[in-house]
Amino acid sequence: MAAETVADTDPAIESIAPARPGELHDDAIIDGYERGAREHGAGGRWVRVNFVTSADGSATVEGLSGGLSDAADKRVFALLRRPCDVVVVGAGTIRAEGYGGMRVDEASERWRVSRGFAAQPTLAIVSGGLDLDPASDVFTQAPVRPIILTNGSSPVVRRERLGAVADVIVCGEASFDTATALDALADRGLKRVHCEGGPHLFGTFVRQGTLDELCLTVSPVLEGGAGQRIIGGAEGERGLGLEQVLRSGGTLFLQYRVL
Ligand SMILES: NC(=O)c1ccc[n+]([C@@H]2O[C@H](COP(=O)([O-])OP(=O)(O)OC[C@H]3O[C@@H](n4cnc5c(N)ncnc54)[C@H](OP(=O)(O)O)[C@@H]3O)[C@@H](O)[C@H]2O)c1
Repeated sequence: MAAETVADTDPAIESIAPARPGELHDDAIIDGYERGAREHGAGGRWVRVNFVTSADGSATVEGLSGGLSDAADKRVFALLRRPCDVVVVGAGTIRAEGYGGMRVDEASERWRVSRGFAAQPTLAIVSGGLDLDPASDVFTQAPVRPIILTNGSSPVVRRERLGAVADVIVCGEASFDTATALDALADRGLKRVHCEGGPHLFGTFVRQGTLDELCLTVSPVLEGGAGQRIIGGAEGERGLGLEQVLRSGGTLFLQYRVL
């Protein structure tokens, strides 16, 4: 495979821990992020979550994450969708961010196929209430039939309606169980799990101890306000091990392994 170069339009990203001179091309960025999965995931299941936060800990600006994200964050966000089988997202984020039909670009498709991944990752939505419109783009424009992960007390009528456009999997009875969900995904060959939030889903993974890694962009802004933090519904301290620090201008990209 030819060595990749950095396109002029790509915002420069460098590695400061470990220190590596020069701008990183796409493959080098992914390779750095993949070290933890290679060393600790042993080619099997790996659950990564990716968030952006302001320097004062807000996960949103005016209710959305977009105001915290610069071009470098968008680059990393897109690159992190490459080494995964499934992108898992909470229904709150799907509704707030207007996900549409999730599709990686052609360069990402080439990258994925050359490394044994399906051309497009599958989207899996976690929802208890199932207040999701089967006619929305997230289903009708999806390149791969999406999955809905729910619990046994979700409304059966909505489950049946959504079953026309997605595979609905019940994971846990009274409440949603992430370990059951991860087993169900793995049974379908979806072992590399990339979660794009939001805070309540992240809190569920942390509370249930099923998360391997947190990728966190720290945006160089003070947001103030009452925006929520990146985690909801989980209390108690969890240790993190710092794996890597990248930077682009004042934006930091922190990668932590959950200990
Ligand atoms: N800064 C960032 O990187 C980032 C990333 C993602 C999202 N966000 C922001 O976060 C906000 C959304 O926050 P959120 O906490 O509502 O997002 P979320 O975690 O995506 O969605 C919460 C919803 O997901 C479902 N869900 C999550 N955990 C569940 C569980 N244990 N059992 C059953 N259902 C579960 C439920 O859906 P139902 O209501 O359908 O039952 C729940 O209401 C938005 O403003 C979004 O912009 C920020």
